[in-house]
Amino acid sequence: MSDKIYDVPAQWAERAYLDEHGYKAKYEASVRDPDGFWGEEGKRIDWFTPYTKVKNTSYAPGAVSIKWFEDGVTNIAHNCIDRHLATRGDQVAIIWEGDDPSQSRHITYRELHDEVCRFANVLRNRSVQKGDRVTIYMPMIPEAAFAMLACARLGAVHSVVFGGFSPDSLASRIRDCDSKMIITADEGLRGGRKVPLKANVDAAIAKLGDFEVDHVVVVKRTGGTVNMKPGRDVWYHEAADLVTSECPAVPVNAEDPLFILYTSGSTGSPKGVLHTTGGYLVYASMTHQYVFDYHEGDIYWCTADVGWVTGHSYIVYGPLANGATTLMFEGVPNYPTNSRFWEVIDKHKVSIFYTAPTAIRALMQSGDGPVTKTSRASLRLLGSVGEPINPEAWEWYYRVVGEERCPVVDTWWQTETGGILITPLPGATRLKPGSATTPFFGIVPQIVDAEGKVLEGPCEGNLVIADSWPGQMRTVYGDHERFMQTYFSTYPNKYFTGDGCRRDADGYYWITGRVDDVINVSGHRMGTAEVESALVAHPKVSEAAVVGYPHDIKGQGIYAYVTLMAGIEPTEELRKELVGWVRQEIGPIASPDLIQFAPGLPKTRSGKIMRRILRKIAEDEFANLGDTSTLADPGVVDDLISHRQNKK
Ligand code: PRX
Repeated sequence: MSDKIYDVPAQWAERAYLDEHGYKAKYEASVRDPDGFWGEEGKRIDWFTPYTKVKNTSYAPGAVSIKWFEDGVTNIAHNCIDRHLATRGDQVAIIWEGDDPSQSRHITYRELHDEVCRFANVLRNRSVQKGDRVTIYMPMIPEAAFAMLACARLGAVHSVVFGGFSPDSLASRIRDCDSKMIITADEGLRGGRKVPLKANVDAAIAKLGDFEVDHVVVVKRTGGTVNMKPGRDVWYHEAADLVTSECPAVPVNAEDPLFILYTSGSTGSPKGVLHTTGGYLVYASMTHQYVFDYHEGDIYWCTADVGWVTGHSYIVYGPLANGATTLMFEGVPNYPTNSRFWEVIDKHKVSIFYTAPTAIRALMQSGDGPVTKTSRASLRLLGSVGEPINPEAWEWYYRVVGEERCPVVDTWWQTETGGILITPLPGATRLKPGSATTPFFGIVPQIVDAEGKVLEGPCEGNLVIADSWPGQMRTVYGDHERFMQTYFSTYPNKYFTGDGCRRDADGYYWITGRVDDVINVSGHRMGTAEVESALVAHPKVSEAAVVGYPHDIKGQGIYAYVTLMAGIEPTEELRKELVGWVRQEIGPIASPDLIQFAPGLPKTRSGKIMRRILRKIAEDEFANLGDTSTLADPGVVDDLISHRQNKK
């Protein structure tokens, strides 16, 4: 924990929406009278039929129900595009920067309107209607945003699947939400390497067996050779030529679904997190405005992928709802060189930059030179998201990248929360490196102990949120029971985040990381159970247990303990084979960093694997293993320690 405090710079106090007093007053109003507060705030978007009800939410055990603005009627694409046309039709909505530094595009709001309408017409001609699920498996190209907005325009529900996921992962997501339409590209391009997206879609469909996908719309990105199945597959550019650029925005109810996004939990397969329309957009728009202190004329860049929630809320929906210019980047931070981020900032005069700690730590390793050779004069605000940022990385980001003039907003939130919940506001909050600081409007964080007792003052425990906010997920798609079980049963009447947290004497929150069996690898969320089930699906593996361990760049690395089938030799070859296997089963982001072959795993007498011990060994905390006397065979622990894999 760093004890440094950075004051709000004088020029920020002048221009920001809120100063410290402004924040406090507004925060108090937001929690004192949520109906009054959000009733006013809901007006930041256009409604075809205004709402008369604001908050109707209950966390009651067995009856969790979350509704905001429930009788209002609106459309997200209308709010992100059409309503801006009269005042900012010629303003750039999306700047696209290609993987290759010589490629970029500028798309105005008027062009965005035409592109999205065309895309929507292509979908409508293939019978996509309000409520239908559409899977989007795309690289970071503007068409990914057009496709999302086209679904929103029709009231269809998109499920974006990150382009790094394997055909298996894609197939299970298509099946879970019963999606008959897939939008993809021939290939993606990242760091000069091609990603075979259409081939992965073909492989996913082949795995679906009887489940029929009716249509695959393919955007041409690289021009690589792909198979097109007549009657099912269509090139987007050919279909788009046949339709007009007019398509009415379908009125949808505030509580109609906008999207599903699959995310990992401690158990079972990834959950389809469902977000709805009205509350989500109000919350994404409001947080984007205040957290980034977004003003007219800013050039805003969030480096996330649209396959993650950060891309949904803070590349597409929040910024476009606010009429901003949002930058979409196809590439990676170190291609062609380690200066790429900073060169893009100079090229497009980016003023607000939002990235992940893992990228900061990786770039920090190559020293200040690649940063300081660029100007970055346009920058005024820096943001961080996805995992705890260590104070050293925070300081480097602040000092070298931001030259001590740009506040760093460390934003804590989750796929489930729809938008940022705990964060500094740049004009109002004194910063402490490594702390997400204080709650956003309407958010009531509490820290509880293992029994659920609410702790007061400075303390450490589990982070819960005591009441609903408009951006909150509404359910797990198709499984409300699982939704209630996962988030509302550990601590009745509260939303359980799964994160550990400390609160200091100033009331600042410090997220300490997940307290469940979820690990965070380079800001990507991974269920240890998913990696384990991929490993045991290999014919030579009998048992596997996966835990996280501290990793200098990734935050956490994946450590897998593997027991082989009788008679199988543990070889270096097999180790590589298993890494490749997991990549193929889930995707490269799930690659185990370390695999330890273990003749046995520590189990209780009832056969339960004691993961606590495995975690300690992976963390090199051998002296701190706790009580091992309940193990069926305490001897396995010594063996595990003596074969501990070295960290990379
Ligand atoms: O553990 C927290 C961590 O990321 C988890 C949420 O992951 P995901 O749903 O993939 O969403 C990531 C982007 C919003 C959280 O439970 N996390 C996210 N942001 C932070 C963070 N941990 C510490 N500090 C943050 N700023």
